[in-house]
Amino acid sequence: MSKEYVLKDTDFLVSQTDEKGKILFANDDFCKIAGYTIDELVGKPHSIVRHADMPKTAFKDLWDTVSSGKVWTGYVKNVTKSGGFYWVFATVFPNIACESGACGFLSCRRKPSADEIAVAERLYQTMH
Ligand SMILES: Cc1cc2nc3c(=O)[nH]c(=O)nc-3n(C[C@H](O)[C@H](O)[C@H](O)COP(=O)(O)O)c2cc1C
Repeated sequence: MSKEYVLKDTDFLVSQTDEKGKILFANDDFCKIAGYTIDELVGKPHSIVRHADMPKTAFKDLWDTVSSGKVWTGYVKNVTKSGGFYWVFATVFPNIACESGACGFLSCRRKPSADEIAVAERLYQTMH
């Protein structure tokens, strides 16, 4: 069993990508919890934190939504550098300062409740 990091109420993870999902910025909480330095993250695809339990369709929905200029929200299980995992509730924004997401996306993540995680976990198991 890999180790879970349960977010604190005050944890707030932010990352920014270009229009293809390459990381441009990550804040301290993101770096600390994912286990990377900022230099290890910048320039990498955001799938660097992708956990194998996450269904492909969740990310298709994320990309379809933000590419069409809308805000996506959802529960995401991510993997840490050392092979642990953590759950977040993510809100992903298209950059409204640019036309049609052409200058990238921003994700802000907070702690989900244990009940919310349990529901997402059950749902994602049915989506594989
Ligand atoms: C702003 C933004 C934030 C993202 N955050 C995550 C994330 O925390 N974890 C994750 O696995 N994928 C995240 N993604 C989706 C990845 O870009 C990617 O689509 C996903 O990891 C699946 O990998 P794949 O497309 O190579 O199959 C994010 C995408 C965007 C645009």
